[in-house]
Amino acid sequence: MTSSILVTGGAGYIGSHTVRALREAGRRVVAYDSLELSEPSAVGDTPLVVGDIADHELVERTCREHDVSAIVHFAAYKNVGESMLSPGKYFRNNVDGTVRLLDAAVAADVRQIVFSSSCSVYGTPAVVPVDEAQPVHPESVYAETKAMVERVLRWYDEVHDLRSISLRYFNAAGASFDSAIGEDWTYALNLIPVAIRALLTGDQELQVFGDDFPTPDGTCVRDYIHVDDLAAAHVAAIDHLADGGDTTAVNVGTGVGSSVLEVLGAIEAVAGKPVPHRIVARRAGDPVATFSDTTRSRQLLGWRAQYGLQEIVETAYRWHLTQLERGS
Ligand SMILES: NC(=O)c1ccc[n+]([C@@H]2O[C@H](COP(=O)([O-])OP(=O)(O)OC[C@H]3O[C@@H](n4cnc5c(N)ncnc54)[C@H](O)[C@@H]3O)[C@@H](O)[C@H]2O)c1
Repeated sequence: MTSSILVTGGAGYIGSHTVRALREAGRRVVAYDSLELSEPSAVGDTPLVVGDIADHELVERTCREHDVSAIVHFAAYKNVGESMLSPGKYFRNNVDGTVRLLDAAVAADVRQIVFSSSCSVYGTPAVVPVDEAQPVHPESVYAETKAMVERVLRWYDEVHDLRSISLRYFNAAGASFDSAIGEDWTYALNLIPVAIRALLTGDQELQVFGDDFPTPDGTCVRDYIHVDDLAAAHVAAIDHLADGGDTTAVNVGTGVGSSVLEVLGAIEAVAGKPVPHRIVARRAGDPVATFSDTTRSRQLLGWRAQYGLQEIVETAYRWHLTQLERGS
C-alpha cells in the first residue's frame, strides 16, 4: 500500500486547501478533525476520521490503518483574543493536544511532521521584513502556544528522531479559485472575511483598530498570503522532509505588506461598493507592521508565493457570494 499523509484540522480553512493540494500532487491523504470549527463537506471525498488529536488510541490506529508516513498538523484554536481570556483552553488544545498527537505518532512509527506555526511568535518585530533569525517573543497566549510547540518539536527530534518543519504563516486569506472551499465567516475573525461580510450583508460595520500608526496611511500593515500558496508550501515542506530535511522553522509569506485601508480599497474595487467601516481605538498588542523575509522559504523549500492581494480579494469575494447564493 502507498503511504498516506495525515492532515489534522483537515476540514478547517487552511487544512482543506492543503488536503486538495496534496491530492493534486498525487498523495494519499487522510483528514482528521473534531469538526468543532468546520464542516465535513470541506474535505470532499477524502477519507475523514472524526476525532480529537488528544485521542492517542484513535490517532495511533488511524496512522497504522492508513500507513501514515507524515503528518501535517493544523488542528488548534486560533483566536488571539479568546486565548487572552481562556489561556487554559489554548494550552490544553494547542500544546497538550499536540504532545499527545506526537506521542501517538511516534508509537505508530511516524517520523515526519509539518506544523502550523505563526508569524505571531515574533511578537512585534524589531525589523521588517522579519526573518527567522529574529528573536521569538510571543505577545499572546496563542502565540506562546505556537512557540512552545516549536520547542517541543525540537526535543522530539532529539529524543525520537521525529523531524519537523514549523511553517510560520503570515495572514492566510483568499479562497480556492473554483469557489468550492474558503474561509467560512461564521468562524473567521480575520480582516478580509469580516470586511466582505460587512459589505455583503450590512449586518455589522467593520471596526478598523487605529489609523494613527506610523505607516503611510496610519493603519496596520500585514502580509496577506493566498491560501493556495500556503497549501503549496506544505507540499514543498512534506517533500523536503521526505528528502531528509532537518528540523527547522520557516516563514511563509509573500514579502509584501498591505495596510488595512489598502485591503479595504482592493475589496471595494472588486465589489464595486464601499465596505461599511468605522475607525476605533487601537487594539492592545497589535504590531504596527509585519511582513516576511522570504529568502529562507525560497532557498530551503524552493517555494515562493504566486498570488497577491488582487487574487486574494477576488477569490474571497467570489467564494462569499457563492456561499450566500447557496444559502449558507
Ligand atoms: N488562518 C491564519 O491566518 C493562520 C495564521 C497562522 C497560523 N495559523 C494556524 O494554522 C492552523 C489552521 O488554521 P485555520 O485558519 O485553517 O483554522 P481553522 O479553525 O479553520 O481550522 C482548524 C481545524 O482544527 C480543528 N480542531 C481544532 N482542535 C482540534 C482537536 N483538538 N482535534 C481535532 N481537530 C481539531 C477544527 O475543527 C478546525 O477544523 C491553526 O493551527 C492556526 O493556529 C493560521
